[in-house]
Amino acid sequence: MEKHTGSTYDEIAEKYADAQDNKPWTIYFERPAVLNFLPDLANKDVLDAGCGPGFYSHFMADRGARVTAFDFNSVFVEQTQARTNGRVTVLQADIAEPLNFAADGSYDLIVSVLVLHYLKDWQPTLKEFNRVLRPNGRLIFSTHHPFTDLELSSGDDYFATELLEDEWDVGKVQFYRRPLSKISRDLFESGFVIEEIGEPQPIKPPKDVAFNAYGRTMKKPARLMVRVCKR
Ligand SMILES: C[S@@+](CC[C@H](N)C(=O)[O-])C[C@H]1O[C@@H](n2cnc3c(N)ncnc32)[C@H](O)[C@@H]1O
Repeated sequence: MEKHTGSTYDEIAEKYADAQDNKPWTIYFERPAVLNFLPDLANKDVLDAGCGPGFYSHFMADRGARVTAFDFNSVFVEQTQARTNGRVTVLQADIAEPLNFAADGSYDLIVSVLVLHYLKDWQPTLKEFNRVLRPNGRLIFSTHHPFTDLELSSGDDYFATELLEDEWDVGKVQFYRRPLSKISRDLFESGFVIEEIGEPQPIKPPKDVAFNAYGRTMKKPARLMVRVCKR
């Protein structure tokens, strides 16, 4: 198995970025869940780890955060640079490798939305996150809910860590699923204490918007939202 499946975006980055801002899934489900978890951002040093096309970097810079963003994919790096118009430091970097650009204790907050499941092993990355956070710094991340991803598995072992493939509207993607207990243990062993785990539900779209997944995501978990504090 590779360290990560970040190259899954090589073929689909442009299509993925074009689709995100107007999708009911993003507007009524994905983004409200993350925004609800964000603290006051004014004057905070924030790292957007796996920034994609830059929505959260832009949002956080708008609210007064000093944002550094990075992504593995050069298309996303360019898009985040364009979207944030010089207000954010945007780097091309691999979240599975040491964050050599960041000194110890240099961030108040790390935000990593829908990125960690591309990694086979979370501990090296979580330990790096711990290193670059200030004392009492927070990591906020979202990831696929392990129960839901189990439906994609051809095996029947919830407790396995496994590579999965899915076919999205923009193309094929690969990522890793692991049980909730492994997520919790990796966080603890990397120096974090869990403050909150959320299982977000969507917000109700206006009547004239067709959001077909509304009923399903009201009843079945699709995402985990997690906020942890550096111990
Ligand atoms: C589902 S997208 C989310 C993007 C962004 N956080 C958002 O929510 O709009 C997943 C992102 O993880 C990035 N990614 C995957 N593997 C990575 C790695 N090894 N290092 C850095 N970024 C990675 C992808 O390039 C992509 O931008």
